[in-house]
Amino acid sequence: MNKVYIAGIGQTPVSESWEKSLKELAGDAGLIAMEDAGIGYPDALFVGNMMAITANRQAQLATLMADWLGFHHKPAISIETACSSGSAAFRMALMAIASGELESALVIGAEKMTDSPGSEITASLATAADAELEADFGLSFVGLNALLMRRYMHEYGWSHADFANFSINAHANAVHNPNARFRKAISKDTFTKSPMISDPINLMDASPVSDGAAAIVLSARPIQTEGKNISVIASAAMTDTLSLQNRQNTIKLNAAETSARAVYAQAGLSPSDMGLFEYHDAFSIMAALSLEAAGFCEPGQGPRLAIDDKIKYDGDIPVATMGGLKARGHPVGATGIYQLVEATLQLQGRAGPTQVKRNKYALTQNIGGSGSNIITHILQSE
Ligand code: COA
Repeated sequence: MNKVYIAGIGQTPVSESWEKSLKELAGDAGLIAMEDAGIGYPDALFVGNMMAITANRQAQLATLMADWLGFHHKPAISIETACSSGSAAFRMALMAIASGELESALVIGAEKMTDSPGSEITASLATAADAELEADFGLSFVGLNALLMRRYMHEYGWSHADFANFSINAHANAVHNPNARFRKAISKDTFTKSPMISDPINLMDASPVSDGAAAIVLSARPIQTEGKNISVIASAAMTDTLSLQNRQNTIKLNAAETSARAVYAQAGLSPSDMGLFEYHDAFSIMAALSLEAAGFCEPGQGPRLAIDDKIKYDGDIPVATMGGLKARGHPVGATGIYQLVEATLQLQGRAGPTQVKRNKYALTQNIGGSGSNIITHILQSE
């Protein structure tokens, strides 16, 4: 495979956006990334998005974006794997460049969720579950994660308060990120006293419904942007059963573990080499399970890393360094690209007050469904 470089990055602030449409948000992020790369129009456009059809009544999002951005007569394709759609689009572009088919590509992750009433967006999100076995019975995504969290607490003996530091860390880091949705630190008291959403998940365990877009220009050539060159040295995608009930062990993220093992093997690296982990903390239970699956601790010990402050930006394994899904926000199909943009900023030494110390390698992991389609990457600074 040919080497692939991150040539440009762009992002819009994650927000509840009343002024801009899905097309405008995605276009803004794409233009910022193209300007950052400075190579004119890339060879193709890949768009990661989950809910344009249901929430925005728009199919053909990639074609629309090609038109809006002026990609005349160039290939454009939309990719959907629920909340991992952004990383799935990134991986498709990466493979097209690594194979030699393309020299460069623009990847946009975009989602506009807040135009829909809460009940409608909850139903749209539930389409990422198994319709026949889960969603048709009224199980929401928060509900599915609540079942997981309850089971995990029962198996390993953790209390709800033991998960507090995942959220506290994410909010503390988001304070310094101008693109984060919630730039406000929270206390343990705020965490434990937040309103219950779906027992045991309360408001501070959950990522917010949000709007946002982020974009990356990938290139076969190293391009010196502001800071160091960043290359993608490993990429893996794995699946698991769509429904939770068909898993032998519901409280283990098999696809996260196998995709993490695959990227470590591709790169010849181990968890201890990673200077940061942009994980998929859509719910605090997912934060714990991700740390375990990616090899940073034993099964059942994820909360221990948070309690011992190992996950802070200056800790052993920094996570959610710019707020994570919890506090930067989780515009679902865009999230994977936000993670990769933030990892790039960290590896270039441009992350501001939450800059990590060891910035040679970053691990990113984007989870679609309740662990059913997981995409993992390692980036390297050169
Ligand atoms: N964390 C912290 N504060 C939050 C929040 C969150 N996750 N979500 C909303 N808020 C705040 C809002 O800013 C607002 O504050 P304000 O009154 O000071 O303006 C307040 O809570 C109410 O906001 P609202 O948008 O009405 O919340 P809601 O009750 O409709 O939705 C959730 C809250 C948690 C139910 C919703 O965000 C949700 O469903 N999240 C999960 C989304 C999901 O499943 N994603 C896919 C995961 S894989």
